[in-house]
Amino acid sequence: MKDFTLEVHGGHSYDWTGAVSEPIYLSATFRHPGFGQSTGYDYGRVANPTRDALENAIALMEKGERSWAVSSGMAAINLVLILLDPGDHVLLSEDLYGGTVRLANEIYGHYGISFEYLDTTNLDLVRDRMRPNTRMIFVETPSNPMMLISDIETLAGIAHERGALLVVDNTFLSPHFQKPLTLGADIVVHSGTKYLCGHNDVIAGVLVLKDGTSDVAKRIELLVKSEGPNLSSMDAWLMLRSLKTLGIRVERQSQNALELARWLKEQPQVTRVFYPGLPEHPGFALQQKQARGNGGMVSFQVTSSERAKAILGRLRLIAFAESLGGVESLLTYPIAQTHAEMPREMIARTGLDDTLLRLSVGIEDVEDLKEDLFQAMKG
Ligand SMILES: Cc1ncc(COP(=O)(O)O)c(C=O)c1O
Repeated sequence: MKDFTLEVHGGHSYDWTGAVSEPIYLSATFRHPGFGQSTGYDYGRVANPTRDALENAIALMEKGERSWAVSSGMAAINLVLILLDPGDHVLLSEDLYGGTVRLANEIYGHYGISFEYLDTTNLDLVRDRMRPNTRMIFVETPSNPMMLISDIETLAGIAHERGALLVVDNTFLSPHFQKPLTLGADIVVHSGTKYLCGHNDVIAGVLVLKDGTSDVAKRIELLVKSEGPNLSSMDAWLMLRSLKTLGIRVERQSQNALELARWLKEQPQVTRVFYPGLPEHPGFALQQKQARGNGGMVSFQVTSSERAKAILGRLRLIAFAESLGGVESLLTYPIAQTHAEMPREMIARTGLDDTLLRLSVGIEDVEDLKEDLFQAMKG
């Protein structure tokens, strides 16, 4: 099945009522037919039919064998990092969501796991930094917020040569545009809060595995059952509903983003635009090779920090807010919001500074978005 069709139908199978929309099973527990017998559902933390339908749909979309829907993107990333043991070493993109760095350094760093951040677009550097105890490479591509593009296929090769796993945070593109598991990645994670839910109304996360029978899969199953980070059936249903329009949302967001990126380049207050759909972006060719679209995220720098802050205060239509991926356009100030707690030396290396703004482009009319940015920038 093609992506648009899969997104609408997922793995939906009709029950005896013929319900077209997946039923929401709110039951916390399930009656056993008799001793030693089960309907397949016993207790909601372990399995729920609505959550199962969502996990099935996500696995199909990412072309993985197994998926788990959890209560946030951070809960999904936690399930990945908790696979590590004391003494392990991990390589991560140095430009990535600040919450991932906080979880790694401030929580898992205390258990004797070492995290090394580097430019994962530089494949020779990645090869050079692999150690015998490197268990994992973790990348965001495009990265947050500098929009760097890392080569998933080559990184998978580097990881596998040394028996390590490649994990890709696919939040910025969604499976509609990029399927890292088909390029060799082992695990995909998402902040489902973003494009998968798409309406700024649910906090959710997903994790997808290429191999559903591996030891990693067994470990994650045990962790989910034991720790209970699962997504509620109500939120699972909301994500299922949102997935039906994923393709039309992200295609439109990507179209608007390209137009805005081109327009921003022409504005005198804008000094640099970071968008992988612009031919001058250093990752342009790779992005076109490994993804089917460029996504709805555009970062740009303006002439001064004062101007950046003033723009945020003058917006009328676009909301100055954290998060991304929803139908409503949002403008974020990464240095003070999503990346506020990042170690300063890392921020300096990536070029993220106090003149950088990150725009999550929605599905509004692009002319209205331009008008709002124009009036906010010219003051
Ligand atoms: C790329 C990326 N990964 C993970 C997360 C964490 O997701 P959540 O906020 O759903 O926990 C975010 C949140 O902004 C993100 O931008």
